[in-house]
Amino acid sequence: MSKKKSSVPEITPLEAKAELARLADAISHHDTLYHQNDAPEISDAEYDALRKSYKVLAESFPHLVPANNPEKKVGAAPLSGFAKVKHRVPMLSLGNAFDTQDVTDFTDRIRRFLNMNEDQPVDCMAEPKIDGLSASLFYENGVFVQGATRGDGEIGEDITQNLSTLATIPKKLTGNAPAIIEIRGEVYMERGNFIEMNARQEQSGKPIFANPRNAAAGSLRQLDSSITATRPLKFFGYALGYSEARIADTQMGVRTQLHQWGFVLNEPSALCHSAEDMIAYHAKIEGMRSTLPFDLDGVVYKINDLDLQERLGFVSRSPRWAIAHKFSAEEAETTLNDIIIQVGRTGALTPVAELEPVNVGGVMVSRATLHNEDEIIRKDIRKGDRVIIRRAGDVIPQIVSVKTEARKADSVPYIFPTHCPECNSEAVRNEGEAVRRCTGGLICSAQAIERLIHFVSRDAFDIEGLGERSLRSFWDENLIKSPVDIFTLEKRGADLEKREGWGAKSVQKLFDAINAKRIIPLERFIYALGIRQVGESTAKLLARTYRSWAALNAQMIEAADHETRGYRDFTALDGIGEAMANDLIRFFSEMHNQEMIAALLNEISISDWQQNESAATALTGKTIVFTGTLQAMGRNEAKAKAEKLGAYVAGSVSSKTDYVVVGADAGSKGEKARALGVTILSEQEWLDLANS
Ligand code: IVH
Repeated sequence: MSKKKSSVPEITPLEAKAELARLADAISHHDTLYHQNDAPEISDAEYDALRKSYKVLAESFPHLVPANNPEKKVGAAPLSGFAKVKHRVPMLSLGNAFDTQDVTDFTDRIRRFLNMNEDQPVDCMAEPKIDGLSASLFYENGVFVQGATRGDGEIGEDITQNLSTLATIPKKLTGNAPAIIEIRGEVYMERGNFIEMNARQEQSGKPIFANPRNAAAGSLRQLDSSITATRPLKFFGYALGYSEARIADTQMGVRTQLHQWGFVLNEPSALCHSAEDMIAYHAKIEGMRSTLPFDLDGVVYKINDLDLQERLGFVSRSPRWAIAHKFSAEEAETTLNDIIIQVGRTGALTPVAELEPVNVGGVMVSRATLHNEDEIIRKDIRKGDRVIIRRAGDVIPQIVSVKTEARKADSVPYIFPTHCPECNSEAVRNEGEAVRRCTGGLICSAQAIERLIHFVSRDAFDIEGLGERSLRSFWDENLIKSPVDIFTLEKRGADLEKREGWGAKSVQKLFDAINAKRIIPLERFIYALGIRQVGESTAKLLARTYRSWAALNAQMIEAADHETRGYRDFTALDGIGEAMANDLIRFFSEMHNQEMIAALLNEISISDWQQNESAATALTGKTIVFTGTLQAMGRNEAKAKAEKLGAYVAGSVSSKTDYVVVGADAGSKGEKARALGVTILSEQEWLDLANS
């Protein structure tokens, strides 16, 4: 159990008063950094921990809360001074490789997808990965006309004025260029310039930045571009976004063209032909890391041939044709002061180490994840231990090892709690699972609020102005305790205008934002429910398969009986494993979930699945099964292609199957298809259908 909780009664009122004031100041400081300076110095989890500590203490000493009580304040609205820009081509992120195995997995995956032989080279451009912020630059007839941040990948902010102040961004491209072209790259700050700038900031009593990346972010998102102009920002070009015409056939060709137009490239780069080449490049760059003037967090490998890039396509938000290979993390030694237990949205009890703050590769670290109960036992981690911690890129710090030789004689093994620290319900561990979970469900405040945060999050209901911070304060004020409460807020006549920092206008804005989401696409709704294991892609799969909420609900209820056809058809879907199927079925069988959804449906409606592809294809809505070995493309490429054309790919043949594509050495599936009278296609017939 958390030390904070149990130690509250032992603290004197004087100490409590000082601690409350300290926490309130810290929260307000981090609010400003987050909302106004765009340069948070602590993670969301650390911020939440501050608020939680404050809350616990304030509950015990309500008469001692300071004037700047953070519980009375709704998080400052983000600066909204920039116009929004919708990216013509989404700005995606990259998957990560952490070791050499991940790199060979990457090339193996590509070979499989493209049906390449083992002796065929996998040609990739390797480039440094700069730790800055990506930006998109539009040129019309060779003239820089608009620049934007990445934002959420779909919509960024118009920072044209600010980007115009960078000398390394050409205002006019040298030589010929397509009439409209978008260049992408990274805005960053060199380490030396960063140190000088921080010294200047300090001298004039202004806030200093934690690292070059935060400094670049803070400098770029200034509303006054004359401030940006004084900051030493630079730009590297590394990719094309939208282009009216093809300018090269390879990534290398793109880079050459960018250079000719006047961009500085992120060097040293190299053309690699195999995983071995890439690994050697990675080692070389890592070795020269400290001699380069900018911070790197790794290198990027991109398939060189742009046609192949197109064939490989994307999985959710990252390309299959590229990967970031991170550098090994930096380590430091410190003391583990305490082990606290956090309760997540799904009720998982996660142990977290509270550390004596320590600088790890330029970032102050005060917490580390301990993963789970077994990890603590395996490493025999105890309170008071000296530990080695490691930070790998943006991943949460981890404990690498314990210096058992430095341990005091009175040290005792840590005992994992068997009850939830939030609601005191029993916390149980299912057989074969590493995680202990609270059984409190909706009565457990930790789970309910986390479920709500997920419910309104970007890929779920995405309600503007109802972010984590405001949701937490509505929760604390008992205004929103369940999803339904969000949609009844207005008609309940909640007196929001009286809240500090709110006026009639902001209240109306919030109600408008909520009302705008009263019709929600089926896939978002499924995702919003926060069912265990059901992420965005499973939500999409379910929406695509069942089309309407009513149909999905009916199928899940039928599937509760494993003897039914409903269960068999459901578990035959490619992408639905047994464990996931059971979590889904359990969710739908739970009475209070059905009640919650019924209440919600009085307030909102769920729109049926809409086919994304504008034109229906011969495969739209068809269920297809692939069996045997295909010659022209790998199984994954065939699957991706079928899905892109609107088909569902199933793993086994049933009476609902429309087509079975039979490759070489097909087994029983072909026979089953024949017995059921399902249309059988040869590989050539499938290709003809797919390309028709
Ligand atoms: S290519 C489809 N190349 O890393 C992804 N990104 O983790 C296209 N980055 O948002 C990105 N150096 O801000 C690419 N040489 C490089 C990069 C690079 C840094 C950043 C970029 C991107 C992030 C993805």
